[in-house]
Amino acid sequence: MKNTIATLKEQKKNGVKISMLTAYDYSTAKLMDEAGINSILIGDSLGMTILGYEDTLSVTMEDMIHHTAAVARGAKNAFIVADMPFMSYQTSVYDAVVNAGRLMKEGRANAVKLEGGESVCPQIKAITEASIPVVAHLGMTPQSVNMFGGFKLQGKDEAAALKLIKDALAVEKAGASMVTLECVPAKLAEYITKRLSVPTIGIGAGAGCDGQVLVYQDMLGMFPDFTPKFAKKFADVGADMKAAFAAYISEMQSGAFPDKAHSFRTEDTTDYEKLAEKLQEIDNI
Ligand code: KIV
Repeated sequence: MKNTIATLKEQKKNGVKISMLTAYDYSTAKLMDEAGINSILIGDSLGMTILGYEDTLSVTMEDMIHHTAAVARGAKNAFIVADMPFMSYQTSVYDAVVNAGRLMKEGRANAVKLEGGESVCPQIKAITEASIPVVAHLGMTPQSVNMFGGFKLQGKDEAAALKLIKDALAVEKAGASMVTLECVPAKLAEYITKRLSVPTIGIGAGAGCDGQVLVYQDMLGMFPDFTPKFAKKFADVGADMKAAFAAYISEMQSGAFPDKAHSFRTEDTTDYEKLAEKLQEIDNI
């Protein structure tokens, strides 16, 4: 069954946790979809995990559309959320609506995600009024890394906690269909979740959110550059991949691969020396 804003809201109502993971390509999205994931986020984290940048700031609309379209082709039932990259919505309400529209039309997303609270409410309102569901992202918002001075826990003191609560209420009022809470104290995230009628999706925000999201390379042990505290490793696929790559190199060099089972027409009786003589005959005509 296709997950929609309505089914995800129903999950919140019934206390059924919403599962979300990032994906950036067709085959990973297909595996997640078959595993029964509720939602897939094409995060601008692809700047780091796929493209090797040090942060998300260099990610373009073209990058996001390219990867969103690949995921959308692979995932039939998951609710597809595409990140709006840095400077695709901050510049103006007009830019925000145009770029959100591109992620829907060209990327085939079901919703867009953008970072910020009260300051981006005009964008959230306009995008929603264009019939595009919006996921708001609060707390540690990676596109503001230079303002924060690093990837840090947010909402730590009273003033910061109040600002976060105010932002959450504001984005809901502006029309956000879901709210992502990243690196927020667990009790504060739980409180915000109770105050909102739309689902919250936590990442480093404790168990009190309506759902959880993780970057898939983090949860599979595939991204050794940086592992945040909240990123539990559910498998060590990185180690399995390295072992498989090494086995391939070794078997290929020893001649063990390719064997008969992985070659074509191994019983072939053709004498290719003789056959090649025909080439000369042809040349002499
Ligand atoms: O870009 C991303 O992957 C995200 C998640 C960390 C929520 O925004």
